[in-house]
Amino acid sequence: MAKTVEFISRAAKSIKGTVYVPGDKSISHRALIFASLASGRSTITNLLNSADCLSTMRCFQDLGVSIVSDKGLITVEGVGTSGLKEPKNILDVGNSGTTLRTLPGILVGQDFISILTGDESIRSRPMGRIIGPLREMGAEIVGRDGDRLAPIAIKGKRLKGISYTTPVASAQVKTSILLAGLFANGVTTVTEKYQSRDHTERFFEFFEIDYKKEIGDASEVSISVEGGQHFKGADMIVAGDISSAAFFIAAALIANDGDLSIVDVGLNPTRIGILEVLEQMGAKIEVTDQKIFTNEPVGTIRIRNQELKATKIGGPIIPRIIDELPILAVIASQARGETIVTDAAELRVKESDRIEKLTMELRKMGVDIEERDDGFIVSGPTELKGAVVDSHHDHRLAMSLAIAGTIASGETVIRNSQSIDVSYPGFESTLDRITEH
Ligand code: S3P
Repeated sequence: MAKTVEFISRAAKSIKGTVYVPGDKSISHRALIFASLASGRSTITNLLNSADCLSTMRCFQDLGVSIVSDKGLITVEGVGTSGLKEPKNILDVGNSGTTLRTLPGILVGQDFISILTGDESIRSRPMGRIIGPLREMGAEIVGRDGDRLAPIAIKGKRLKGISYTTPVASAQVKTSILLAGLFANGVTTVTEKYQSRDHTERFFEFFEIDYKKEIGDASEVSISVEGGQHFKGADMIVAGDISSAAFFIAAALIANDGDLSIVDVGLNPTRIGILEVLEQMGAKIEVTDQKIFTNEPVGTIRIRNQELKATKIGGPIIPRIIDELPILAVIASQARGETIVTDAAELRVKESDRIEKLTMELRKMGVDIEERDDGFIVSGPTELKGAVVDSHHDHRLAMSLAIAGTIASGETVIRNSQSIDVSYPGFESTLDRITEH
């Protein structure tokens, strides 16, 4: 059992300066996956050095891939698509949902047995969504509690390509099936009602893996990949994480005196729902110095404190803003009117039930927030007060509460703040550096 840590957040007079956020979590996982399956050496610069990405790294090391870190540069000796080795022990994904959902897509196509498990929170998150389609491809894969939960056991087999429509847009599920598609006979197609983050597709392109993207009716998107493709190692740079940047964007926006620049942050269109929504709320966001890191757009964002108005969010934008909804609730508490979030029931099966826990904790600080089955309603603007709150072992809740603390009276004590390390080691010291009390 990890030790309990408390973080104390205090009211800020100003939020100012320049921030380099760490590497993007989703891109970091995929950089490790593709580098491991490539033939020969790859290097990764700016890989997110957080608990979740270290879980993916350890799993590949347990599968026989040499991954070495030296002064921040990661060198991976890729073993090719048929070079992974049977792990001698159970693969431990810790708290990482992306590891637990994407690795089985690879493992079902190997010539060996593997078992995956993780911490208490991850063992309660739905796994049927990958077990179902992978079985349709011919995989031998079982999970606890009627194939719903981890631990998961896999016996690798010959797979066949399928055409699958996901019930809920999910980049983890899409990636799992497409990775299995690389080991399957024929073509594998995944169709989503709404486009989820497309980092896997961008890596296909970067590694010159043939794939096809088709846009269907309304917001439907299909991705197809043919099995049996091989690719070579390459040098990669990971873009800054927009989901981590979102906490500091929020801090500057709602501060009395905010002016913050965030450098080399990822601006992938499937990830910047938060910027679109903030503009809808009246925020002016300056983007400069745009460039490309490993087939991903990046740029510098400048944000100043601003008056905001409430907005309505639902439908196709939800997958593009899903991880930012907790911090959006904090921003909405300072916007004039009712901010209404719908179609976001997925929040209930993230690292915590983010609808229930967010409502519970933000209310302690005086936020006027109402829980809905598939979202929440926040009325603002409201003056916040410091309180003792809990992260419920959820990194994004911990950081959202810490930012709420910068505009609350007195002290906000965030219990179980150690969960921040899952995606943003160093968050507390960066917040401290840009804050004047
Ligand atoms: C992720 C996809 C998202 C996101 C998660 C990371 C990924 O989940 O919430 O933090 O790296 O693919 P979905 O699979 O629900 O889209």
